Amino acid sequence: MCTGGCAKCLGTTLIPLAVLCTLANILLFFPGGKVVENNVHITNEVWYFGGILGSGVLMIFPALVFLGLKNNDCCGCCGNESCGKRFAMFSSIIFAAVGVLGAGYCFVLSAVALNRGPKCYNGTEWTYPFQDGNYLANHTLWNACQSPENIVPWNLTLFSLLLVMSGIQVVLCGIQVVNGLLGTICGDCQCCGCCGGDGTV
Ligand SMILES: *[C@@H]1O[C@H](CO)[C@@H](O)[C@H](O)[C@H]1NC(C)=O
Repeated sequence: MCTGGCAKCLGTTLIPLAVLCTLANILLFFPGGKVVENNVHITNEVWYFGGILGSGVLMIFPALVFLGLKNNDCCGCCGNESCGKRFAMFSSIIFAAVGVLGAGYCFVLSAVALNRGPKCYNGTEWTYPFQDGNYLANHTLWNACQSPENIVPWNLTLFSLLLVMSGIQVVLCGIQVVNGLLGTICGDCQCCGCCGGDGTV
Protein backbone atom coordinates (compact mmCIF):
# COMPACT_ATOMS: atom_id res chain seq x y z
CA MET A 1 0.00 0.00 0.00
CA CYS A 2 2.65 2.47 1.00
CA THR A 3 5.11 2.48 -1.85
CA GLY A 4 2.39 2.36 -4.52
CA GLY A 5 0.49 5.16 -2.76
CA CYS A 6 3.63 7.29 -2.58
CA ALA A 7 4.20 6.78 -6.29
CA LYS A 8 0.65 7.91 -7.06
CA CYS A 9 1.23 11.09 -5.09
CA LEU A 10 4.47 11.72 -7.02
CA GLY A 11 2.68 11.20 -10.33
CA THR A 12 -0.09 13.62 -9.34
CA THR A 13 2.48 16.31 -8.65
CA LEU A 14 4.48 15.69 -11.83
CA ILE A 15 1.55 16.31 -14.21
CA PRO A 16 0.84 19.99 -13.33
CA LEU A 17 4.60 20.67 -13.23
CA ALA A 18 4.95 19.21 -16.74
CA VAL A 19 2.10 21.42 -17.99
CA LEU A 20 3.60 24.54 -16.38
CA CYS A 21 7.07 23.82 -17.79
CA THR A 22 5.59 23.40 -21.27
CA LEU A 23 3.72 26.71 -20.89
CA ALA A 24 6.83 28.53 -19.66
CA ASN A 25 8.83 27.27 -22.64
CA ILE A 26 6.08 28.35 -25.07
CA LEU A 27 5.94 31.83 -23.49
CA LEU A 28 9.71 32.15 -23.99
CA PHE A 29 9.05 32.10 -27.74
CA PHE A 30 7.18 35.40 -27.29
CA PRO A 31 9.69 37.79 -25.66
CA GLY A 32 7.85 40.43 -23.65
CA GLY A 33 4.57 38.84 -24.76
CA LYS A 34 5.07 39.80 -28.39
CA VAL A 35 5.60 37.88 -31.60
CA VAL A 36 9.12 38.40 -32.99
CA GLU A 37 9.62 39.23 -36.68
CA ASN A 38 12.54 36.85 -37.05
CA ASN A 39 13.02 33.50 -35.29
CA VAL A 40 16.78 34.09 -35.24
CA HIS A 41 16.13 36.78 -32.62
CA ILE A 42 14.94 34.27 -30.04
CA THR A 43 17.46 33.16 -27.40
CA ASN A 44 19.08 29.87 -28.45
CA GLU A 45 18.31 27.98 -25.23
CA VAL A 46 14.58 28.46 -25.91
CA TRP A 47 14.99 26.38 -29.08
CA TYR A 48 16.44 23.45 -27.14
CA PHE A 49 12.90 22.74 -25.83
CA GLY A 50 13.95 22.02 -22.24
CA GLY A 51 10.49 22.81 -20.87
CA ILE A 52 8.44 21.32 -23.71
CA LEU A 53 10.41 18.09 -24.27
CA GLY A 54 12.58 17.47 -21.19
CA SER A 55 10.20 18.56 -18.43
CA GLY A 56 7.01 18.28 -20.50
CA VAL A 57 6.45 15.46 -22.96
CA LEU A 58 9.10 13.17 -21.49
CA MET A 59 7.64 13.62 -18.00
CA ILE A 60 4.20 12.34 -19.04
CA PHE A 61 5.47 8.74 -19.24
CA PRO A 62 6.90 8.43 -15.72
CA ALA A 63 3.95 10.40 -14.32
CA LEU A 64 1.38 8.02 -15.87
CA VAL A 65 3.37 4.96 -14.80
CA PHE A 66 3.60 6.26 -11.21
CA LEU A 67 -0.13 7.00 -11.18
CA GLY A 68 -0.89 3.44 -12.25
CA LEU A 69 1.34 1.72 -9.69
CA LYS A 70 -1.17 1.80 -6.87
CA ASN A 71 -3.82 -0.05 -8.88
CA ASN A 72 -1.42 -2.60 -10.26
CA ASP A 73 -2.64 -6.12 -9.69
CA CYS A 74 -0.17 -7.83 -7.44
CA CYS A 75 -1.73 -11.24 -7.32
CA GLY A 76 -1.62 -12.51 -10.85
CA CYS A 77 1.92 -13.19 -11.91
CA CYS A 78 2.80 -16.86 -12.43
CA GLY A 79 0.95 -17.80 -9.29
CA ASN A 80 3.42 -15.69 -7.36
CA GLU A 81 1.54 -13.16 -5.29
CA SER A 82 4.13 -10.45 -5.22
CA CYS A 83 6.05 -10.77 -8.45
CA GLY A 84 3.59 -8.72 -10.57
CA LYS A 85 3.81 -5.85 -8.16
CA ARG A 86 7.53 -6.24 -7.85
CA PHE A 87 7.93 -6.12 -11.59
CA ALA A 88 5.78 -2.97 -11.78
CA MET A 89 7.89 -1.28 -9.12
CA PHE A 90 11.04 -2.42 -10.88
CA SER A 91 9.98 -1.03 -14.26
CA SER A 92 8.98 2.23 -12.57
CA ILE A 93 12.67 2.70 -11.71
CA ILE A 94 13.45 2.86 -15.43
CA PHE A 95 10.73 5.44 -16.03
CA ALA A 96 11.88 7.40 -12.99
CA ALA A 97 15.38 7.45 -14.47
CA VAL A 98 13.97 8.75 -17.76
CA GLY A 99 12.22 11.49 -15.74
CA VAL A 100 15.46 12.42 -13.97
CA LEU A 101 17.20 12.72 -17.35
CA GLY A 102 14.42 14.82 -18.95
CA ALA A 103 14.01 17.20 -16.02
CA GLY A 104 17.79 17.29 -15.56
CA TYR A 105 18.14 18.42 -19.17
CA CYS A 106 15.66 21.25 -18.59
CA PHE A 107 17.38 22.17 -15.31
CA VAL A 108 20.86 22.42 -16.84
CA LEU A 109 19.54 24.29 -19.87
CA SER A 110 17.73 26.83 -17.66
CA ALA A 111 20.84 27.38 -15.56
CA VAL A 112 22.92 27.96 -18.71
CA ALA A 113 20.29 30.34 -20.11
CA LEU A 114 20.14 32.33 -16.86
CA ASN A 115 23.90 32.61 -16.75
CA ARG A 116 24.26 33.62 -20.37
CA GLY A 117 21.33 36.03 -20.46
CA PRO A 118 18.94 36.69 -23.34
CA LYS A 119 19.68 37.47 -26.96
CA CYS A 120 18.60 41.03 -27.75
CA TYR A 121 19.19 44.07 -29.94
CA ASN A 122 21.81 46.35 -28.39
CA GLY A 123 21.43 49.24 -30.84
CA THR A 124 23.74 47.89 -33.54
CA GLU A 125 23.24 44.13 -33.70
CA TRP A 126 21.43 41.12 -32.24
CA THR A 127 23.74 39.63 -29.63
CA TYR A 128 24.13 38.28 -26.10
CA PRO A 129 25.25 41.44 -24.28
CA PHE A 130 25.80 39.78 -20.88
CA GLN A 131 28.45 37.43 -19.54
CA ASP A 132 28.58 35.03 -16.62
CA GLY A 133 25.31 36.23 -15.13
CA ASN A 134 26.67 39.74 -14.51
CA TYR A 135 23.24 41.22 -15.36
CA LEU A 136 21.61 39.33 -12.49
CA ALA A 137 23.07 41.64 -9.86
CA ASN A 138 23.32 44.84 -11.89
CA HIS A 139 20.11 46.40 -13.18
CA THR A 140 22.01 49.12 -15.02
CA LEU A 141 23.34 46.56 -17.48
CA TRP A 142 19.79 45.72 -18.57
CA ASN A 143 19.78 48.92 -20.65
CA ALA A 144 22.09 47.12 -23.07
CA CYS A 145 18.98 45.40 -24.42
CA GLN A 146 16.98 47.91 -26.44
CA SER A 147 14.56 45.42 -27.89
CA PRO A 148 12.50 43.27 -27.54
CA GLU A 149 10.91 45.30 -24.77
CA ASN A 150 11.22 43.67 -21.31
CA ILE A 151 13.22 40.76 -22.73
CA VAL A 152 15.50 40.60 -19.67
CA PRO A 153 12.82 40.27 -16.94
CA TRP A 154 10.77 38.03 -19.26
CA ASN A 155 13.56 35.49 -19.78
CA LEU A 156 14.78 35.85 -16.22
CA THR A 157 11.35 35.04 -14.75
CA LEU A 158 10.51 32.17 -17.08
CA PHE A 159 13.91 30.48 -16.97
CA SER A 160 13.93 30.84 -13.17
CA LEU A 161 10.52 29.15 -13.01
CA LEU A 162 11.78 26.40 -15.32
CA LEU A 163 14.86 25.97 -13.13
CA VAL A 164 12.79 25.57 -9.95
CA MET A 165 10.09 23.35 -11.46
CA SER A 166 12.51 21.05 -13.27
CA GLY A 167 14.57 20.87 -10.06
CA ILE A 168 11.46 19.65 -8.20
CA GLN A 169 10.82 17.11 -10.96
CA VAL A 170 14.36 15.77 -10.62
CA VAL A 171 13.84 15.33 -6.86
CA LEU A 172 10.40 13.68 -7.27
CA CYS A 173 11.68 11.23 -9.88
CA GLY A 174 14.73 10.60 -7.72
CA ILE A 175 12.41 9.69 -4.84
CA GLN A 176 10.65 7.20 -7.09
CA VAL A 177 13.99 5.59 -7.99
CA VAL A 178 14.50 4.86 -4.27
CA ASN A 179 10.80 4.03 -3.77
CA GLY A 180 10.89 1.66 -6.73
CA LEU A 181 13.98 -0.07 -5.36
CA LEU A 182 12.25 -0.55 -1.99
CA GLY A 183 9.10 -1.79 -3.72
CA THR A 184 11.12 -4.25 -5.78
CA ILE A 185 12.92 -5.60 -2.75
CA CYS A 186 9.97 -5.63 -0.34
CA GLY A 187 7.29 -6.63 -2.82
CA ASP A 188 4.83 -4.02 -1.50
CA CYS A 189 2.04 -6.54 -1.36
CA GLN A 190 -0.10 -5.87 1.66
CA CYS A 191 -2.82 -5.25 -0.91
CA CYS A 192 -2.96 -8.99 -1.57
CA GLY A 193 -4.82 -9.28 1.70
CA CYS A 194 -7.81 -7.66 0.04
CA CYS A 195 -7.65 -9.86 -3.04
CA GLY A 196 -8.16 -12.94 -0.91
CA GLY A 197 -5.68 -14.73 -3.11
CA ASP A 198 -8.28 -15.62 -5.74
CA GLY A 199 -7.43 -12.78 -8.08
CA THR A 200 -10.59 -10.74 -7.52
CA VAL A 201 -10.53 -7.32 -5.95
C1 LIG B 1 26.65 48.12 -13.19
O1 LIG B 1 27.09 48.25 -14.51
C2 LIG B 1 27.39 49.59 -14.88
C3 LIG B 1 27.66 49.61 -16.37
O2 LIG B 1 28.70 48.73 -16.73
C4 LIG B 1 28.59 50.06 -14.06
O3 LIG B 1 28.91 51.39 -14.40
C5 LIG B 1 28.22 49.96 -12.59
O4 LIG B 1 29.34 50.29 -11.80
C6 LIG B 1 27.75 48.57 -12.22
N1 LIG B 1 27.21 48.57 -10.87
C7 LIG B 1 27.57 47.66 -9.98
C8 LIG B 1 26.90 47.77 -8.65
O5 LIG B 1 28.37 46.79 -10.23
